[in-house]
Amino acid sequence: MEEEEPGDRPVEWRPMTVKRVGIVGSGIMGAGVAECAAVAGFEVVLRSRSATTADAMLAGLEKSLDRQVEKGKMEDADRSAAIARVTATSDLHELADCDLVLESVVEDIAVKKHLFGELDRICADHTILATNTSTLPVVELAMETGRPEKVCGVHFFNPAPMMALVEVVRPLTAADETIAAAFEFAEACGKTPVEVTDRAGFIVNALLFPYLNNAVRLLENGVATRDDIDTAMKGGCGFPMGPFALLDLVGLDTSLAILDALYGEFRDPNYAAVPLLRRMVAAELFGRKSGQGFFDYRK
Ligand SMILES: NC(=O)c1ccc[n+]([C@@H]2O[C@H](COP(=O)([O-])OP(=O)(O)OC[C@H]3O[C@@H](n4cnc5c(N)ncnc54)[C@H](O)[C@@H]3O)[C@@H](O)[C@H]2O)c1
Repeated sequence: MEEEEPGDRPVEWRPMTVKRVGIVGSGIMGAGVAECAAVAGFEVVLRSRSATTADAMLAGLEKSLDRQVEKGKMEDADRSAAIARVTATSDLHELADCDLVLESVVEDIAVKKHLFGELDRICADHTILATNTSTLPVVELAMETGRPEKVCGVHFFNPAPMMALVEVVRPLTAADETIAAAFEFAEACGKTPVEVTDRAGFIVNALLFPYLNNAVRLLENGVATRDDIDTAMKGGCGFPMGPFALLDLVGLDTSLAILDALYGEFRDPNYAAVPLLRRMVAAELFGRKSGQGFFDYRK
C-alpha cells in the first residue's frame, strides 16, 4: 500500500473565528478557563466584579504558570507570552470586541440571565456568548439576548487546565456555526469536546451527581466513615479521588446548586440533595475554596 502524502487528503476548510476571548467570573472555573485560553494563544480579557479580585486573578494565573515552569512542563518564554496575552478588568465594556465571551459566574439563573442581557447590549454583533453552567437551561440565557442563535454552553471541568473534556451544549436556538466555533475553541484549548443537548446536568453531571449525593447519604446514614467511603471508591472503582474529596474540590455550594437544578428538572429522588449537604452549605462549609468542607484545608 502506498503511503499517503500530507497533501493527498482534501483539506477541510474550517475557519477559526475566535481570537479574542472574554471570561466573566473570577472563581475556580473562571481562573482555570482563562489559563487554558491564554496558554492556547488566545487574547484573554478577564472580568471580575472588583479591581482587587481582577488583579488577584491575574496574580493567581501567574503563580499557576510559574508552577508549570518549575515542574518543567512549560518554557519560561511561553509562560511570559501567555501572561502578556491576558488583561484583567472590572469593566464589562472591555469585553465589547471579544469574539467569544464565556461566563463562569455563580450557578444562579437570575444572576446569569441579568449578565447575558448586559453582555448582549455591550458586545459586538458577531460575539458568541457562552456559559460554563453545569446544569442551568442554556436556552433561557439565549432568550435574554437579541442573538439567541449565537448562544451556547461551553462546559469545562475542574481543574480546567488539567481536565480533557469540554461539553458543548446546544440549546434549541443555536446556529450550527456557533456550535462549530465552540468546538474549535475547545479543541484549540487542547480539549476533547462532545456535543450534548440542553438538559440539566448534560452528560457528566447527570451521571456524576446521583453518585456524589448518594455518597453523602451513606455517610449521613452511618453506613461507613468519610475516609472509608473515599477509600472504597478509589480502590474499588479506580477513581482518582473519592466522592468527598471531589465534592470539596467542586465546592459544596456549587454542588448543591447543581443538585437543586437537576431535581427541579427531573424530579428524580436521586437528585434530591441529602440534608447533610444542605446543612453544610448553610454553615458555609464550601470545601477547598472556604478552607473546610468534608475535609479541613486550613492547616
Ligand atoms: N466548581 C466546579 O467544579 C465547576 C465545574 C464546571 C463548571 N462550573 C460552573 O462554573 C460556574 C462558576 O463556578 P465556580 O466553581 O467557578 O464558582 P466560584 O464560587 O468559585 O466562583 C463564582 C464566581 O461568581 C462570582 N459571583 C458571585 N455572585 C455574583 C453575582 N451576583 N454577579 C456576578 N458574579 C457573581 C463570584 O465573585 C466568583 O467570581 C458555575 O456556573 C458552575 O456551575 C463549576
